[in-house]
Amino acid sequence: MQIVILNDAATVAAYGANIFATQLQNKPTSVLGLATGSTPVALYQQLIAKNTAGEISFSHVTTFNLDEYLGLAGDHPQSYRYFMNEQLFSHIDINKENTFVPPGDAVNPITACKEYEDRITAAGGVDIQLLGIGRNGHIGFNEPSSGLCSRTRVKTLTKATVDDNARFFAGDEYQPHLSITMGIGTILEAKKVVLLATGENKADAVYAMVEGPLMAKCPASALQLHKDAVIVIDKAAASKLEDLEFYQHIEAENQKLQAQLATL
Ligand code: GLP
Repeated sequence: MQIVILNDAATVAAYGANIFATQLQNKPTSVLGLATGSTPVALYQQLIAKNTAGEISFSHVTTFNLDEYLGLAGDHPQSYRYFMNEQLFSHIDINKENTFVPPGDAVNPITACKEYEDRITAAGGVDIQLLGIGRNGHIGFNEPSSGLCSRTRVKTLTKATVDDNARFFAGDEYQPHLSITMGIGTILEAKKVVLLATGENKADAVYAMVEGPLMAKCPASALQLHKDAVIVIDKAAASKLEDLEFYQHIEAENQKLQAQLATL
């Protein structure tokens, strides 16, 4: 894991956006894995700005989102499909037909999960996967106890996740307790993963992911097995890490090396 600790949420978003921009510049036909939640919004704004400025293009890109509420169609304002259109797709030069979100209104969700996996495989796999993290360590909607090799499937949300996400739903509005989510095994197959976390309320989950044991109780700890996982966090989210100074030292050395390589 590469642990990058930055001052604040804005710097985290900028760092993450640069990784995605470089990916698109190196491979315009990239397959992107995308995420929802409040954390990636600032990164999406940066990508929109770069696209508007002509620095990057999404015209040959395919995207796959991590998850969706089961029971919400894509035109529902709280669906993740709607979120992605609003926060990113409607503002960039992407062909929406190349953007995929698990279908929350699938007649047969079991078949839909298999089809989603097949579609990712047919696209050549995900080149780079963006992730947030839940306070309980979930990635996508892989809640604690999720199998570390799990595939795209229907998952029941924990009460903690339902409560955390209740802020997006009006008081009397139906809030799903089920989801379709890429599995942890699916996520681990992405060639690169970039996880963003900001704020003190993520500090326990970040600690468990980085310094805790590999365990289903913290699904994000599975990223310890990934060969190219970049964890980009602000100081508040990093505040419970025991080896903080070591990670900062490694990253400073890493930056020096990158600067040297750039002069070759
Ligand atoms: C939801 C999403 C996750 C996301 C998490 C954290 O549960 N399914 O993919 O990482 O929320 O969201 P936030 O960034 O708003 O804290």
